[in-house]
Parts: sequence; structure tokens; C-alpha cells
Amino acid sequence: MLIGIPKESAPGQTLVAATGATTAKLVRLGYDVVVESGAGGYADQADAAYLEAGGRVGTAEEVWAADVVVKIDAPTEDEIARLREGATVVAMMAPARSPELVESLGARGVTALALDAVPRISRAQSMDVLSSMANVGGYRAVVEAAHEFGRMFTGQVTAAGKVPPARVFVVGAGVAGLAAIGAAGSMGAIVRAFDVRPEVAEQVASMGGDFVTVEMETEVSSDGYAKEMTAEQELATAVMYAEEATAADIVITTALIPGRPAPTLITAETVAAMRPGSVIVDMAAATGGNCELTVPGQRTVTENGVIILGYTDLPGRLAAQTSQLYGTNVVNLMTLLTPGKDGQLTLDLEDVVQRGLTVTRSGEVLWPPPPVQVSAAPAPTAPAAVAAPAEKRPALTESGKVTVVSVAAAALFALIALSPPQLQGNLTVFALAVVIGFYVIGHVHHALHTPLMSVTNAISGIIVVGAILQIGDPNRLISALAFVAVLVASINIFGGFAVTRRMLGMFSRS
Ligand SMILES: NC(=O)c1ccc[n+]([C@@H]2O[C@H](COP(=O)([O-])OP(=O)(O)OC[C@H]3O[C@@H](n4cnc5c(N)ncnc54)[C@H](O)[C@@H]3O)[C@@H](O)[C@H]2O)c1
Repeated sequence: MLIGIPKESAPGQTLVAATGATTAKLVRLGYDVVVESGAGGYADQADAAYLEAGGRVGTAEEVWAADVVVKIDAPTEDEIARLREGATVVAMMAPARSPELVESLGARGVTALALDAVPRISRAQSMDVLSSMANVGGYRAVVEAAHEFGRMFTGQVTAAGKVPPARVFVVGAGVAGLAAIGAAGSMGAIVRAFDVRPEVAEQVASMGGDFVTVEMETEVSSDGYAKEMTAEQELATAVMYAEEATAADIVITTALIPGRPAPTLITAETVAAMRPGSVIVDMAAATGGNCELTVPGQRTVTENGVIILGYTDLPGRLAAQTSQLYGTNVVNLMTLLTPGKDGQLTLDLEDVVQRGLTVTRSGEVLWPPPPVQVSAAPAPTAPAAVAAPAEKRPALTESGKVTVVSVAAAALFALIALSPPQLQGNLTVFALAVVIGFYVIGHVHHALHTPLMSVTNAISGIIVVGAILQIGDPNRLISALAFVAVLVASINIFGGFAVTRRMLGMFSRS
């Protein structure tokens, strides 16, 4: 089959749906690829890059006559008319907000796959273009803020005086928010963040931010997205927003509830109370904005000197990077759709991911798909139970934890007392190791878990040495146990090296 990559027609669109690197992967899947001449110009992808990758460079007519057309933005009416009947078009389509588009695609008799409708489940993460976009957007939001902000992000003590670090407040800790927290933190700012989903507090901490808490009842999301807040929750958070925003130098807002206009969280009154030179980057500008004064697509400066950025093209401002990520998402989708790796696209509607993004199939309108339950989230409960505070997962109280630890310790000491003298010494060392390990490892920061893994590798090394010494024991049981110990500890060592190598590979330049 032939895949066509057109030049994007939307004014100001800098992205392209395939790069040289991703074209090579599509070719390896058995497809022929034709790219419209100049399509990758803004993303640093010259025509030659596609030719080197095994693709062809052609005219718009050739591209739109392809079996599969892959692009960034939803096709326009004119573009839909250019698709040949029976063709497949893959793009970001926001089908929930575009009923006319869905109707036109159906009427044209094509198969339409909306990349922005990939369900938010672990298996589909590699195809999730919204996450790719939000990730780049969150990073770029910090870069834009740093550019506008008249001071450094990092704190310094210099001969000329002390420079305080910038204070950044991030609203919404989804993909964009977490990327912004990471970027701002790495530049030296103090980052605080809030999200209505309390389960993200740990992720905020792992990115180096402080999670702001507000006393209110919340519900764990069942689809990876937030639910709209109740009036009571809104009231509780309003005061916090005002306090955090006025204390911050930079506010980055990313709060989103799918299918709804963005909630207004930073009021005009709050902006008026912010210091001159403060910057607000409103990433939700395209859907109405989280700040009352945001103008979508514009940079505005308020009377009190607060700069508000409502840019809606943040991923496009890093066109090469975003195109590469988008192109990789496309390759991952095409890999799923090409089980035979023979260049033949096969759509399996039994598969929850493929069903989730299918808008039309050969003209048959299949939107909306049945809802998908996120595997990590709890199953929906009866409405009465949802509102009840008891819905929160029961956690062990402090006194409960103390009881469990005390019982375990008592059992261990009883075991030591009843053991033969030779074993008593070993069990005592074991008991002390458990206690020390519990306190030491329990307090290790998330960011240091990988080096911690290396330490466990060293422990496995000790096990291997000990087991080798025992392997020649005349007692067959001891000899067999030693053999198993060598085997299991070796799996840990070599598996650890393999994982570490893979992780390091992610950071090395190819
Ligand atoms: N401006 C741009 O160029 C650009 C680029 C990419 C993404 N975006 C936008 O950025 C936003 C975030 O994208 P995302 O992929 O991270 O979405 P996401 O769904 O992963 O994250 C949104 C987060 O906002 C939280 N939230 C919802 N209501 C809230 C509230 N009232 N207070 C606090 N938090 C709240 C949600 O719990 C969720 O964690 C979206 O609006 C998206 O369209 C903009």
C-alpha cells in the first residue's frame, strides 16, 4: 500500500506527519511512502531526507491519491474531496467536537482514524499524540516564560548580591503540567503544582515539584482524565489559586477536562494582585483559557505589567522534535495496523485501541466508540458510593502499621529464640538487615531508584559468591539450594544490567 504525507495546509502549521527516520520505519513495514515536496521544510526535514529513507517525493496529487494519507490536522472539506474512495486518512480530528467533519468523512466513503482519540491506556501510550504534543508544549511553555521573565530561574549567591530562585506555580499535573514542572525545576526554579486528581501528587514530587493540597473530597479518575469540580470544591480551590498565583513569578496553567471548555481558575482579580513582570502561560488558551484575561494565540500585557501568553502553537515552536515524536506515534500505530509487516493495513475493531480511534470505516460512521475503562483505575462504583468519602482506598493508619511491624518483629524474635544456636546468629543478622533496609530504602528519593537497583545488583553478587561456596556441599539439598540461588541472583544481575543499559540508551545520542 502507498502512504501519502501531505504538506499541512493550516496557516502557521510547522509540523509534518513523518520525518526521514520515521519514513524508513514505514518502509520497513512494507509500505511505499510518498511525501509532498517541501512538506518537512519547517521541521528541518529536507526532501532528500525522505529519499534517503527509501521514500519518494511527489506532488500533492500523488500524495492525496495514496491508499493511506497521514497528516497532522484534520482534513479540510477540499482535502476530503481529494481522498480517493476507500482510502484511509489518519490525523488529529477532535471528532467529539467536529460532527460535520465526521459526517463528511462518512459521506466520502473513507476510513478515518483519529490519532487524538487513542484511549489513555498503557498499551496505547506509544501512539498517544496528545501526550507527545503536551509533553513538548509543557517544556516550551517554560522556555517561553523564561524568555519573557526579566530574571533568572535559578537562585544564586554572587559578589553582587543574592538572587532568589523564581517561583513557578503549575496548574494541572497531566502530561503538559508534569513536563513544565520538570523543565522549570531543571532550570533552578522552585516549583509548586496543583491538580484536582490527588493521585498525581507522587508524580509531581518525582518531577521535583511540591504538590499543593486543598482540603476537599475528590474522586479518582476512571479514564485518565479529570472530572468537573463541584461548587464546593471550586470554592475551596479558589482561595488557594489566588494565594499561589500571587506568590509566584510564573504561572503555567494546563487544566483540562475533555470535551468541556477550560475551567477559569486564575481570575482578573488575581492577575491584578500579581507582581509586575510576572508571566502567565495559559496552555489551555485554545479551549477558552484557565485565566480570565487570556487572549488565544496572543501575548498580552495587563495594566499592572503581568504578561499573559495564550499561544496555541507551543509544540509547533519545536517543529523538528514534535514532528519526530508524532511520526513515531504514527509508526507505532501502523505497526499495530500491519500485523503481517507486509504493507497491508488491517483494521481490527475487536481491539480496543483500534476501535477507540476509528471514526469511520469505509464510510460507516463508528463515532463515538464505546467507553474504555483505564486498567489502572478502579471500576466505577454505584453513584451513592462515589460521593461518599469512604470511597477513598482504605490505607493503613499509623497505629495499624506499628501493630503489623510489632507482630512481625515478635514472630522473628520467637523464631530466633527457638532456632539452633548456629542459625541464631544468621537470623539476628537477617532481622537487623530487614530493619535497616526498611528505613534506608524507604527514604530513598524516587529519582535515586535506578542507582538503588545497582546496589541490589551488588547484593546479588554477594549471594552468588556465598552460593558458589556452598555448591559443593555433600548435602544434596544444600547443593541444590545453592544452585538455585546462583541462578536466581544471576538473573537479577544480568537483568539489572540489561535494564540499566536500555535506560542509558534512552539518554545517549545515536
Ligand atoms: N498551547 C499549546 O500549544 C498546547 C500544546 C499541547 C497541549 N495543550 C493543552 O494543554 C492542556 C493540558 O494537556 P495535557 O495533555 O497535559 O492534558 P491532561 O488531561 O493530561 O492534563 C490536564 C490536567 O488538568 C487537571 N485539571 C483539570 N481540571 C483542573 C482544575 N480545575 N484544577 C487543577 N487541575 C485540573 C487534570 O486532572 C489533568 O491532570 C490541554 O488544554 C491541552 O489542550 C496546549
